[in-house]
Amino acid sequence: MSRKVDSKFVWMDGKIVTADEAKVSFFSHAVHYGTGVFEGVRCYDGALGPAVFRLPEHLERLRRSARGYFMEYLWTDAELTKAIAELIKLHGFRECYIRPLVQTGEGRMGVRPRECEINAFIAVWSWGAYLGPEALEKGIHAAIVEQRKYLPSALDPTIKACGHYLNSVLATKEAAARGYDEAILLNGHDRVAEGAGENVFVVHGDTLITNGPEESLLPGITRDSVLSIAHHLGIPVRIAPMTVEDLLGADEVFMTGTAAEVTPVGQINGRTIGRGGRGPITLQLQTNYLDAVRGRLERFVHWLTPVV
Ligand SMILES: Cc1ncc(COP(=O)(O)O)c(C=O)c1O
Repeated sequence: MSRKVDSKFVWMDGKIVTADEAKVSFFSHAVHYGTGVFEGVRCYDGALGPAVFRLPEHLERLRRSARGYFMEYLWTDAELTKAIAELIKLHGFRECYIRPLVQTGEGRMGVRPRECEINAFIAVWSWGAYLGPEALEKGIHAAIVEQRKYLPSALDPTIKACGHYLNSVLATKEAAARGYDEAILLNGHDRVAEGAGENVFVVHGDTLITNGPEESLLPGITRDSVLSIAHHLGIPVRIAPMTVEDLLGADEVFMTGTAAEVTPVGQINGRTIGRGGRGPITLQLQTNYLDAVRGRLERFVHWLTPVV
């Protein structure tokens, strides 16, 4: 089968192997039960040359996610950082997506992981705009889907685990089947949780609003970056639960994620949001975010780890 990504080498448990050699055992616990945790990180080419955006925060979340599923690994963040830089240089990438993944590997069979290896992998590949080349400029059409976000009492949404993404997979399939670009999931209280792979923001008047982790969401690193940027720009911010009416009646809606960056939402369930397309506050935050990730904002340059 032909590979759809331009990844040539993969870091596996301390060794760099070719992408063809990067194989996982069928007997890995993760293959059967979804016990992997992962990160999505981006490297951008900017004022400092290729640099990874908010890498310490991503590595911290990876470790926390792993702990949530009893998958402590011995690699230090410094070692993982070195491995990422090595891989990026080996590919000659100036910009790329980075996917660290830790899995519960081979061991005794059965649902309860017993005597299982813990494996750490890292891949890199080129990845442009996640929701298509025009999404950042023109905005996407999102669907509020029937599929609900799982309850935090069942799975912790703040953990980025492979198995948790079955919920997002079904949501994206449902949205696509209805002709939409992306899914927005509601939580157990019929309020907005998040996108299939993004957090959701609305603009009402001059105020930026997004929901908090108690609403069943992965509190994204992009979300946090946008909140810091908004604060810096003097945009009033409110963290509050959001209803469907809050979304449909908003002046602007956008979604954030490492992959999706800051993506405007022009329509939801066929209803135009505000004037449709990319609103002025979304544009301001998006421009500043894309400047920050490329080291063009002195105040946020500490978010970058240069690839050396
Ligand atoms: C379900 C979900 N929510 C939110 C996000 C945004 O997180 P981040 O901004 O850290 O990439 C992601 C992407 O990783 C996601 O998959």
